Amino acid sequence: MEYFIFIIIAYLLGAIPSGLIVGKMGYGIDIREHGSGNLGGTNTFRVLGLKAGLIVTIADILKGTAAAVIPVLFGADVIPLVIGVFAVIGHMYPVFAGFKGGKAVATSAGVVLGVNPLVFAILLGTFFLLLYLSKYVSLASMVTGIVTFIVTLLLGEYGLSIIIAVFTVFVIYRHRSNIKRIMNKTEPKITWM
Ligand code: G3P
Repeated sequence: MEYFIFIIIAYLLGAIPSGLIVGKMGYGIDIREHGSGNLGGTNTFRVLGLKAGLIVTIADILKGTAAAVIPVLFGADVIPLVIGVFAVIGHMYPVFAGFKGGKAVATSAGVVLGVNPLVFAILLGTFFLLLYLSKYVSLASMVTGIVTFIVTLLLGEYGLSIIIAVFTVFVIYRHRSNIKRIMNKTEPKITWM
């Protein structure tokens, strides 16, 4: 029963469509009709600029963090990482936005932050290094998942490794169109780094 309650809470938290809310309330636009059409922070940066992009990215991270931390605060006998997976599922398939959500990156990172801040710091450093080298947010996101998986194995954090492997599969699956664009050389590169 405890699992059921926290899974529902995590899913509903993950399903909050921050990109849609910020786009509609702050700028009067549906972010899904612009740029890549994705609801995430990257597309919000692209279409609405730094402030909106940061708000959406942080909100998407915090959805995952909250989902993992809330059961701990309630002293629930559940595995926070397992609960966190449902926040990521909510983010990808949100009931509040026609089940068309984001690409799993920020909310997965948020779950990692809630469970192991050190691994989150490594993940963040890896992401920005890969972004600097490649200029592709999508490629940096996918490779960060793989690198973080290896890092957690080396640290002996096997539970975290399993969940990061699941997140990385989600991330790669949700980036299918980006992978095609990278191969066609039509994926947009960032210009600010
Ligand atoms: O977090 C999503 C990012 O990796 C790619 O987003 O809008 O370029 O498809 P986008």
